Amino acid sequence: MEQVITLTYWSRATHPMGEEELLELLRKSRRNNGRRNITGLLLYRDQCFLQVLEGPEPVVSTLIQTIESDPRHHSFRTLCREVGPRQFGDWQMGFENLDDEAGRSETAAIMRRPFDPDYFGANPTTTQTLLLCFRGIADPAVVATVGHASSGD
Ligand SMILES: Cc1cc2nc3c(=O)[nH]c(=O)nc-3n(C[C@H](O)[C@H](O)[C@H](O)COP(=O)(O)O)c2cc1C
Repeated sequence: MEQVITLTYWSRATHPMGEEELLELLRKSRRNNGRRNITGLLLYRDQCFLQVLEGPEPVVSTLIQTIESDPRHHSFRTLCREVGPRQFGDWQMGFENLDDEAGRSETAAIMRRPFDPDYFGANPTTTQTLLLCFRGIADPAVVATVGHASSGD
């Protein structure tokens, strides 16, 4: 089975991100990631990001440097870096805007938890489990929407 680097980080957006801005970020990420054999998931809640990136080691390391220096966020904190099988294989970058998801039963577990790096850092196994539960929510193309409008992307 293919082994990849999986890197999970938390960061805080420099300003509240609107739907258009998130959609633009997601579109470009998915286009780039498809070309680079990168897969993963991006969550947004309370002006913070939680992202899992997985792929070949040199590609992930280069991308992380790019993302870390992106002026749209700060306080970048790596939570977990490990080698293993690809977990988000179908997703060039799944996305959930959790600010819009308060009522969904599938996301209830993560909504009950504080969305902060101290919690995620102290509870890596729970964090991985919560992230993985997003795989089952919907088809990747449908998950990759902002708010409730399908991007058709
Ligand atoms: C929270 C966050 C997550 C991002 N995730 C990705 C990603 O998964 N893939 C990607 O290519 N760029 C991602 N970016 C954007 C990069 O920082 C950078 O702007 C982009 O890769 C530049 O692409 P370009 O060279 O095609 O213009 C992310 C940015 C932020 C703020």
